[in-house]
Amino acid sequence: MNRSADKALHFGVFEVMGPQVGGTYSWAHPRSESANYLNTDYWISIAQTLERAGFDFLFFAGGYGYPIVDGDLSEVAVRHGINFSGLDPDYLIPVLAQHTDTLGFVVTQSTGLDHPVQLARRFSTLDHLTGGRIGWNIVTGASQNAVAEVFGHERMVPHDTRYEMAAEYVELAARYWETAWDDDALVVDRASGVFARRDGIHRIVYDGKHYRSRGYYGAPPSPQRTPVLFQAGTSPTGRAFAAEHAECVFVQATTPARTAAAVTDIRRLAAEAGRDADSITTMAGLTVFLAETEQRAVELAAEFDAMQTDEIVASLYAGNTGIDLLALDPDRTLHQVLDAGGPVGQMGTSNIERFLDDDAPTVREILDQLRGLGTRGFRIVGDPIQIADAIERLAAETDLDGFLIEPVFEPVDLEDFGRLVMPILRERGRLRDGEAGCSLRARITEQPGHDRLGDAHPALPALVSMPV
Ligand SMILES: Cc1cc2nc3c(=O)[nH]c(=O)nc-3n(C[C@H](O)[C@H](O)[C@H](O)COP(=O)(O)O)c2cc1C
Repeated sequence: MNRSADKALHFGVFEVMGPQVGGTYSWAHPRSESANYLNTDYWISIAQTLERAGFDFLFFAGGYGYPIVDGDLSEVAVRHGINFSGLDPDYLIPVLAQHTDTLGFVVTQSTGLDHPVQLARRFSTLDHLTGGRIGWNIVTGASQNAVAEVFGHERMVPHDTRYEMAAEYVELAARYWETAWDDDALVVDRASGVFARRDGIHRIVYDGKHYRSRGYYGAPPSPQRTPVLFQAGTSPTGRAFAAEHAECVFVQATTPARTAAAVTDIRRLAAEAGRDADSITTMAGLTVFLAETEQRAVELAAEFDAMQTDEIVASLYAGNTGIDLLALDPDRTLHQVLDAGGPVGQMGTSNIERFLDDDAPTVREILDQLRGLGTRGFRIVGDPIQIADAIERLAAETDLDGFLIEPVFEPVDLEDFGRLVMPILRERGRLRDGEAGCSLRARITEQPGHDRLGDAHPALPALVSMPV
């Protein structure tokens, strides 16, 4: 990986197979067509737009959760379709792969819900069907209170236990992918009628604290074997998990300074875990209000902002953290709420910790800060040159390796970014275009032919030396 200040940057697009992204309200705006998310052609057209523009991948967030406020499904979430109503993008990926050649795809799947073998087989299948263009965004899951009730669990699994389970989950999945079949075990020789070599297929024996497995894995090795391992979740435990397991980390962007600190911390933890810190790709979300003129871009941002309300902010924040901001004293800080024994986050904690600095904002200030922000990362507004400059500045300030564009009005925002900003970045040497036949891992690591997890990943030597 090239870590110079003027390195090429990676670009993905943050999507959800739902009405809109980012926990904000935009689908009803006249510029937006995202209410078409149930239509396959809508997605094919977006994937083709991204491939033409030179994006590395299309990323799908997702999950089974929804915002709960006051003990029940949030009214505003349903009314405006905010983090409620979503489909499973897994089924979309093979369709989009058929209509693209170089674009990668990353799908978020939470650990802790199904058995690792179920997830492993889904990703083996997707890696085959995309020709090695798939990544897995590992999360321990947002909106855990809703997930617990939907799955019929008595209570939420505590935050850090979820990460302990996730470590086993990934390790077992990687054993299926990396060790169950030898490279030459699949023979498929018509003349002899030999399909596969029995001595090339290995029994998986795994006795973890949370997961067990004894048996064989039926999916033959795919181009990458293990999907590119992304991770999202920036709490201290989340960062430690990322440093051990992730190849690409989706960092929760807040201020450039805090994001830079998170990036440094993840790299430091990775080095402590015996990894090459520079081998980890870090990316953050980026919302772009872009137009041919700065004035029009400012107008678009204002039109979007006018659609957002405190109820939307509070619903989303409750869905992320379990804390209902509108039920709190607006003049107190979260420190005071937590110290007073108020709601304590066993859900996502990144969005609590970011408001616990020494000069912590009050609840009212948090509502103001988050209005229009949702789960979005950085926000920039301007004409094409201003946007390209701002992206380069953010990359320099944070040491991030790239950005996930979080569209507001779709698909026009993506078309405009591809048409107006990507050519400028390309001209400045900031883009690395994809090649057909190149795996997502090779593209992200910038190493042609680097399709497999590789010995440098800490999971692999341990797996390979394991008795089978
Ligand atoms: C930038 C970012 C994106 C995320 N996307 C998702 C997602 O799509 N689905 C999901 O269930 N969790 C998602 N999460 C992660 C959950 O919030 C996380 O797995 C869990 O709640 C613990 O996160 P924490 O380490 O930040 O506390 C995301 C987190 C971040 C920081």
